Amino acid sequence: MGLFDRHAALLADYRDVQTTGADPFQVRMERVLSPTEAIIDGRKTLLVGTHNYFGLTFDPSCVEAAIEAIRTEGTGTTGSRIANGSYGQHTLLEREIAEFYGKKHCMVFTTGYQANLGVISGLVGDGDHLLIDADSHASIYDACRQTQAGIVRFRHNDPSSLDARLRRLSNEPGNRLVVLEGIYSMMGDRAPLEEFVEVCKRHNAYILIDEAHSLGALGENGRGLCEAEGVLDDCHFIVGTFSKTLGAIGGYVVSDEPDFDILRVTVRAYMFTASAPPSVIASVRQALRVVKARPELRHRLWKNAATLYDGLAARGFRLGPVHGPVVAVLMPDRPTAIAFWRALLEAGIYVGVAAPPATPSGISLLRCALCAEHTREQLEHMVEVMTGIARQMGVLDEEAGPAMN
Ligand SMILES: Cc1ncc(COP(=O)(O)O)c(C=O)c1O
Repeated sequence: MGLFDRHAALLADYRDVQTTGADPFQVRMERVLSPTEAIIDGRKTLLVGTHNYFGLTFDPSCVEAAIEAIRTEGTGTTGSRIANGSYGQHTLLEREIAEFYGKKHCMVFTTGYQANLGVISGLVGDGDHLLIDADSHASIYDACRQTQAGIVRFRHNDPSSLDARLRRLSNEPGNRLVVLEGIYSMMGDRAPLEEFVEVCKRHNAYILIDEAHSLGALGENGRGLCEAEGVLDDCHFIVGTFSKTLGAIGGYVVSDEPDFDILRVTVRAYMFTASAPPSVIASVRQALRVVKARPELRHRLWKNAATLYDGLAARGFRLGPVHGPVVAVLMPDRPTAIAFWRALLEAGIYVGVAAPPATPSGISLLRCALCAEHTREQLEHMVEVMTGIARQMGVLDEEAGPAMN
């Protein structure tokens, strides 16, 4: 038996995908031109799947901050903050993120994946209970593998399902940590957070919410779903990423828990990996200033989300349940999803594609992510192109009229 034999089923499926055309998992951007355009296969391509929500990857002030940091502090930190020490900018960024949320503590990680992995597995252990939404991100599922806590899944976005599971645990000792997401990245739907908070309060459970896709997009000041639903003080741990709205790479967690800083010497995903380079930290600090100073970016993002969602819905596409920065376009099956994705790429439009086992309930879908920098013309063009492809492939049921999920 060879090392790769256990991947045999997947290998066969994947070869199938690779031999029938462009590989959705190995797209190569020859040149990135802006937050919304790149050259792919020699063709100028509209990017509607890169989660660059505010378009800050090319913001001149963020770019300048990164360049200046490289000039003055070098290209990398060459080690973890435990081994090599923190740069001044690391601690300044942590203070600024904590202030942004009105929380006492913040810990910055090198990726958002590591933030979830490290913090969740650092908070609960043997004898505790970790309760996660069934549609949680892979980083949350991977955290489950790294803890000795009991793992309980509840139905996606269903506070009564969480309530039932917490009731079942009511006579068990140990802490309860409930993990939620602000905006779910596959379907673009949002947790009914107020109801979840009410359930958690009743059962004395801690809440950790991952606002990876909602930072900047939701809330009066862009703090995410917690702010939008007025429950910032009820969420004990808020996790986020620098890799989407903030246009760089890294992750964070904020909290008011008094002993929070002990995680710096217990969380392996923080202790045993190199810290983010000065350029990244500097551009993220500047991006956070932009998020605070330019609410119009959030408004443009939502306007663009409405243009795409309403345009596709009117043409009869089946979509995720709500308007938002992530628009899921449901496909009947995986082969159709991949064929549609390829046709779109050939027509000069890049979106994401997802299929089982990565998706909830065995759904296949195209993942569109809006950017504040998209123009109305770009998005209207996309609706036209998608409608043309859908008609050719027989994906639309136009007789039935607009079909929203
Ligand atoms: C919900 C969620 N959490 C965490 C992450 C991981 O973030 P990062 O890309 O910064 O590692 C992602 C990334 O896609 C995500 O969608």
